[in-house]
Amino acid sequence: MENKIINLGIFGFGCVGQGLYEVLNRTKGINARIKKICIKDPNKSRPIDSSYFTTDKNEILEDPTIDVVVELINETEAAFEIVSTALRNGKAVVSASKRMIAENLASLYQLQAENKVPFLYEASSCASIPIIRNLEEYYDNDLLNAVEGICNGSTNYILTKIFEENLSFETALQQAQELGFAETDPTLDIEGYDPKFKIVILLLHAFGTFVKPEEVFNFGIHHLNDFDIQFAKQRNSTIKLIGHCRRNNGNVFAFVLPHLVKEHNLLYDVYNEYNGILLESAFTDKQFFVGKGAGGTATGSAVLSDISALLYNYRYEYKKIKQNNQPAFTNDVKLKVYLRYKTPDQVDLTEFFSIEEKYESSTWRYVVGTINLQKLKDAAWLKNKDVNLLVLE
Ligand code: HSE
Repeated sequence: MENKIINLGIFGFGCVGQGLYEVLNRTKGINARIKKICIKDPNKSRPIDSSYFTTDKNEILEDPTIDVVVELINETEAAFEIVSTALRNGKAVVSASKRMIAENLASLYQLQAENKVPFLYEASSCASIPIIRNLEEYYDNDLLNAVEGICNGSTNYILTKIFEENLSFETALQQAQELGFAETDPTLDIEGYDPKFKIVILLLHAFGTFVKPEEVFNFGIHHLNDFDIQFAKQRNSTIKLIGHCRRNNGNVFAFVLPHLVKEHNLLYDVYNEYNGILLESAFTDKQFFVGKGAGGTATGSAVLSDISALLYNYRYEYKKIKQNNQPAFTNDVKLKVYLRYKTPDQVDLTEFFSIEEKYESSTWRYVVGTINLQKLKDAAWLKNKDVNLLVLE
């Protein structure tokens, strides 16, 4: 596609779509222009000329002059339908839809191979941080041991406001929604589903392992209370929602869980909607990537970077899959956790390998102990609002 102007057909004109529009307008050096934007609601007032818009998806998908489809909508099934049709029609596709991608990774991989067209999705994981391309290009070997970090901007924003400004959870969440960081359904953020989708995507690019989102355990910050916050503060720590994948005895495990994070940890200083990713590799030890993980223009910048990469015929090669020594996924790993509850009948402490600290008061109780990740994933008792979990370093 070098030296030509590429015509973009965009699906969705919400926070990210508008962010991309702004970023494109301010980037003089890119040979790309928006030809059409497909939207759902024609009656909504839009900040740009109405001639851009259509409600007919085929005006993009079947227009031979449109080279690249940019998919930025909310609905998972509709997004998959658009992306797969576009790939089958021989169009390159850029997407930011982490849920759709995570849930359909194997099919999307297949579709790219069958149709020999690129599908790029840097914006889907950690927005402005170029993590997928780093995993694909720089870490194109099997020396990588772990990928972990903060990969949800909204929950990091909420936790920052709680710890740094003593804001209530509800006020902080409302701000995250107003700033365009949160998902349309914010439970996806606060219960840890959104970062899990990102971890599933990163896991494939880091290790070549396909995992379905439902295989990975996620627990968010929805049960956090003042007692937990005090527990963290008394230990000169903060709380961060962390996604983690790591090689372990020839396998790889992954999860998204709230962690107690001490000051020496690089993730401690990642604030607001910023994300931070730590990579661990055999000879480089730790490397740290930080950047805005949510918001229209931050995400739009990553989409722009993918569009620009297409001009140079870039595509993911999924080198780890081709290297053919991908680790198998497992939930069989021990974690040291803090488990807070109100009454003993709310939890099953027999599931623990060991308990090293126990606290009881007239209001809250907690234990610190070691438990298997699979046990946590299976624990129905974690659904009780009185029960909260934090991973300890
Ligand atoms: N809701 C997401 C977040 C948006 O807060 O990180 C970016 O993926």
